[in-house]
Amino acid sequence: MPDKDRTIKDFGKQWLRYSDNEGYYGSLELLEDIISPFLKIDELKNCMVAEIGSGTGRIVNMLLASGVQHIVAIEPSDAFEILVRNIRNSEKVTCLKITGDQLPPYGDFDYIFSIGALHHIPDPKQVVGAAFRALRPGGQFLVWLYGKEGNEPYLALINPLRVLTRRLPHLALASLVWLIYHPLNLYIRLCHRFPLPLREYLLSIFDKMSPEKRRLIIYDQLNPAYAKYYKRSEAENLLLNGGFKNIRIHHRHGYSWTVIGTKP
Ligand SMILES: C[S@@+](CC[C@H](N)C(=O)[O-])C[C@H]1O[C@@H](n2cnc3c(N)ncnc32)[C@H](O)[C@@H]1O
Repeated sequence: MPDKDRTIKDFGKQWLRYSDNEGYYGSLELLEDIISPFLKIDELKNCMVAEIGSGTGRIVNMLLASGVQHIVAIEPSDAFEILVRNIRNSEKVTCLKITGDQLPPYGDFDYIFSIGALHHIPDPKQVVGAAFRALRPGGQFLVWLYGKEGNEPYLALINPLRVLTRRLPHLALASLVWLIYHPLNLYIRLCHRFPLPLREYLLSIFDKMSPEKRRLIIYDQLNPAYAKYYKRSEAENLLLNGGFKNIRIHHRHGYSWTVIGTKP
């Protein structure tokens, strides 16, 4: 099976097992942390928005809480049923079980978001093109991606591990997550005292998550067949080559990229 389809299948299985969005993981505070270098929550009020790769709908519910007028939520995996179930105000949401490249060219969105999805799509160009066509002129596409810069020691560990873990069945992977979970908590305690790799992310984000969501995040790192860690230039070019202008980029917590571009 091609990596694109395998990854969608992997997420379907993942979200059927980790289906809720409780606590900081599903909070408006976290959305603010992701978008705030470029957008204020207030600016989303009464806007037409879409999200590409909605998973269990945590970002969709955050956007609803921001006061948007309507959201189109796209999720191609078996998580679609969880997405529909989790949505808090279904009158304001249209859920589509399609891949990002199939987003119809509505042409009237003020904002399109893709949070943590494009780095799991082997050929994201088609998705960026679909987002471009679906925005109104002046509309903006905001993308959050894993970064290469800042993650080098982590990637040296995780990449060899992922060769095995991306093939593991759920029970074996969930057991491995427990094995990693306890030493990781210890590492976080050390981060409070020493400037260790990934300190900023672990203390600003991961430390605020519940134990269950910490284990989900570990699982999420090890499970999907395809995951790409973007260099700054690759992240910028993704939007630039899709026709977007006024591209701005932020190195979020030293481990990821938030990128935004405007449709001229
Ligand atoms: C890491 S999850 C992020 C979910 C959500 N945005 C969030 O932050 O909670 C990535 C999601 O992208 C979806 N995805 C994978 N390939 C996709 C594609 N080609 N088009 C749209 N979504 C895709 C997966 O099924 C998965 O639910």
